[in-house]
Amino acid sequence: MTEIKNEKLTVTHPNGSYPIFIGRQLLANVSEMAQIDGPFVVVTDDTVGPLHADKVKGATAVIQVPTGERFKTLDTIRTIYDELFENGLDRKGTLVALGGGVVGDMVGFAAATFMRGIDFVQCPTTVLSMVDASVGGKTGVDMPQGKNLVGAFKQPTAVFADMDSLKTLPQVEISSGFAEIVKHGLINDPDLFQSFEADSWQLALDNPSTIIDTLQTIIARAIQVKIDVVQEDPYEKGRRATLNYGHTFGHAIEQVTQFEVRHGEGVAMGMVAAANMSARLGYCDETLQGRIEAVLEKVNLPTRIPAHLDPELLYEVMHKDKKTAVGKVRFILIRDVGDVFLQGGVPDTAVFESIRAVQG
Ligand SMILES: NC(=O)c1ccc[n+]([C@@H]2O[C@H](COP(=O)([O-])OP(=O)(O)OC[C@H]3O[C@@H](n4cnc5c(N)ncnc54)[C@H](O)[C@@H]3O)[C@@H](O)[C@H]2O)c1
Ligand SMILES: [Zn+2]
Repeated sequence: MTEIKNEKLTVTHPNGSYPIFIGRQLLANVSEMAQIDGPFVVVTDDTVGPLHADKVKGATAVIQVPTGERFKTLDTIRTIYDELFENGLDRKGTLVALGGGVVGDMVGFAAATFMRGIDFVQCPTTVLSMVDASVGGKTGVDMPQGKNLVGAFKQPTAVFADMDSLKTLPQVEISSGFAEIVKHGLINDPDLFQSFEADSWQLALDNPSTIIDTLQTIIARAIQVKIDVVQEDPYEKGRRATLNYGHTFGHAIEQVTQFEVRHGEGVAMGMVAAANMSARLGYCDETLQGRIEAVLEKVNLPTRIPAHLDPELLYEVMHKDKKTAVGKVRFILIRDVGDVFLQGGVPDTAVFESIRAVQG
């Protein structure tokens, strides 16, 4: 079998550009390939640290934060600052984020604010953070009032999607990442979505090592969708909002379940609900919801909002979500595969009916 080669994609943004390396055994060469010329500190969580931190050579220190979305908070950021001071990092230092989207979002925010901004490099180690969170420069933390409510735009200087790190990623997390990949297909890559619909398409999720090459191909393609969207709209003035397809429902589900539902799982349920609502409002064919569900099921993602979640409570949380404009919740709706759009003024009745229709 011929091994797939390492790839390099480039993201351009208003102040420059950065490379995304996708391939094997990248972690060992981070400092050289990212051209880090001062001291650097690796920040990771206490799950990924013991598995992968030693692969990154030459770090001044490794900081481990507690694992999980519950710790994506300003309190954790403060502990990161403290350890950076303890290790004597100054303006010439660089932070290397090693982990999933939670670590990437927090380290990006720490890098944006420590000493008014130092360089940072992203080493995403989940499928989700490779295809979505590590690209585009959105960083931040959650607040009791809602997810990602405090943050900054901070572009990394380089991104390393090392496929070998995925060998330790639990199946459920690979599935969770596929929610964003399916989303990228739905918003801008119909061929990718249709390839998942093909009868023979299946992924051997129980053995990540055997599917690394397949994952690399799919991940590179999904990253390209994200690149195209963020390049067109770096500060989320318009088009970039489409990346939130499924997220208004999804964030609410995550929060109401106190993050027992993973980000990707919430997004999967949210994409089904958003398709249901789009059909209800007459924007898309009723069969689209079923097509999305069929693809999500192939990667073991949930397609139903848990029946015990109170629609009123979900609705209330959606109102607090940052996508609220003038009191009305705005949704990303879908017309067809590859055609999603932002819609304000959705009637409350449609929101409630869609939630109930996809509960189970
Ligand atoms: N900034 C953005 O544009 C953006 C986009 C999408 C999502 N996000 C954010 O990303 C977060 C979700 O990211 P996630 O799904 O990567 O979650 P995560 O960072 O919580 O990682 C999921 C779990 O996998 C573990 N893990 C990570 N890599 C591993 C590996 N290689 N081997 C074994 N275990 C590993 C982590 O410790 C964690 O327990 C959310 O906070 C979401 O808001 C941000
Ligand atoms: Zn997401």
